[in-house]
Amino acid sequence: MRTVRKVGEVRDALRQHGGRVGLVPTMGAFHKGHLALMQAAREACDVVVVSLFVNPSQFNTAEDLARYPRDEAADALKAEEAGADLLFAPPAEELYPEGFDTWVEPGELATVLEGAARPGHFRAVATVCTKLFSIVQPDVIYFGRKDAQQVAIIKRVVADLDLPLELVAVPTVRDPDGLALSSRNAFLSPAERAVGVALPRALEAGLAAHRSGQDAVAAAREVLDQQRGLAVEYVAIGDFEGPTLVAAVRVGATRLIDNAPLER
Ligand code: PAJ
Repeated sequence: MRTVRKVGEVRDALRQHGGRVGLVPTMGAFHKGHLALMQAAREACDVVVVSLFVNPSQFNTAEDLARYPRDEAADALKAEEAGADLLFAPPAEELYPEGFDTWVEPGELATVLEGAARPGHFRAVATVCTKLFSIVQPDVIYFGRKDAQQVAIIKRVVADLDLPLELVAVPTVRDPDGLALSSRNAFLSPAERAVGVALPRALEAGLAAHRSGQDAVAAAREVLDQQRGLAVEYVAIGDFEGPTLVAAVRVGATRLIDNAPLER
């Protein structure tokens, strides 16, 4: 696996390869969720490109950006092991040079739930992803269902801008206690982590209620409301490739999101 930092180097590297190109966009701090995306790409593609870019504009506070975990050396080893061929890890000025002033503005879908909680977030995600698609020109892009709203928005961008790509959405990878893997889990103390597992438990309760014809949101909210040390931001049903029970909570200074598709 090679690590490159310049757009031109990505293009040069890919010119030498033929075949199906898979792209896995990431912000690093790799865990098994990221690696599942890379492995899926490895199985289906001839060339696997992983991008590692902590996109400043998609963070809502300077503090959140500053404390985002970064360990490129460890990430490079993990990506190589998962089968990546090329790691594109540009500095911020490579993607946002002086004078940069064009944005991809997603509509309706970006205004609710995560979009309402984090103004401008999805505009920044849609913009950086569109730039990555333009740089790498992949045949297939890999995203995690963990971020269900992100998947729905990127699908919309791909359709609306007629981008010749196939999006593969990979199921959420969880720890044995049910907590969805996330780079932000590293911020949780053991006590906070024990609180955080109420989130997947609440979604399970919501799914069970839904299966027996009851209100999924109310059932999930009840579990979360009973958990001390956790603040609920939202519990709702989003329309992301079908109805999806989604929730966001805060445990201490850490924000956790998770979701579960509801059977129709
Ligand atoms: P990041 O949070 O690094 O996530 C990169 C990809 O990994 C996303 O598609 C995300 O949904 C997926 N992922 C994260 N946790 C997962 C889990 N537990 N199981 C399965 N997949 C998981 O999402 C971003 O970066 C950024 O917004 C990005 C798309 C790179 C744009 O900057």
